Amino acid sequence: FGRNFIYLASTDSTNLRARALARDGAPEGAVVVADSQTGGRGRMRRAWVSPAGVNLYCSIVLRPPVPSVRVPEIPLVAAAAIHGAISEECVGLSAFIKWPNDIIVAGRKLCGILCEMESEPDCTHFVVVGFGLNVNLDPVPEELQSIATSIAIETGARVSRARLLAAVLNRFERLYFEWLGRDDLSFILPCLEAYAWLKGHELKIEQFNRVLTGTEVGLSPQGHLLLRTADGAILPVSSGEAHLLPV
Ligand code: BTN
Repeated sequence: FGRNFIYLASTDSTNLRARALARDGAPEGAVVVADSQTGGRGRMRRAWVSPAGVNLYCSIVLRPPVPSVRVPEIPLVAAAAIHGAISEECVGLSAFIKWPNDIIVAGRKLCGILCEMESEPDCTHFVVVGFGLNVNLDPVPEELQSIATSIAIETGARVSRARLLAAVLNRFERLYFEWLGRDDLSFILPCLEAYAWLKGHELKIEQFNRVLTGTEVGLSPQGHLLLRTADGAILPVSSGEAHLLPV
């Protein structure tokens, strides 16, 4: 990934730029990186605070030749790649993967992933995987201090953003092509489960029209979170935002 690379000092949102490029035919693996974003977007229509000079804001164009039902697996492939890259590059950082698409360190968010799919007139689809990774941000803006952190805050050291980006892109490329050749996420399930932030915890999962509660008991090969509900049934949950319930 990144052989086709666009760097912007500032843009509204790298996901929006990458989607526009993909509509114009950008190839698989095209990457858009910005030093800052004026309209950074998170999941659930939230804003992604994107100051200049400190973090990574990156979006990657994918054209997976798989049925669209498999697309929700992609954020977990990206999460495994980002987790692997930061664990290798930042010695001493103990990072976890929060289903379906966050990286957590010390109970706070280090990285968020926004995966968007668009269908094209010829009935094919493309996917843009965007991630925002807090690297040298220190301090975190006051209003986010209870929920966000950065590599610099957690390790006390500044890290090269270029080096980290290369590590993420190389790993993601390798895992993505391996995933394309498989039927599901089985090949990275051990990694996703070993570093699962939600593992074994009581959860509340917010979906668009309902809230589910139960205990996390694992992940399915399709990337569904397996929730044991009060009546003892195991419910596979395909999407939503998970919150830990106090013990
Ligand atoms: C989330 O946790 O809600 C997902 C956040 C994703 C933020 C990244 S920053 C690069 C890319 N461009 C965007 O506008 N959003 C993603």
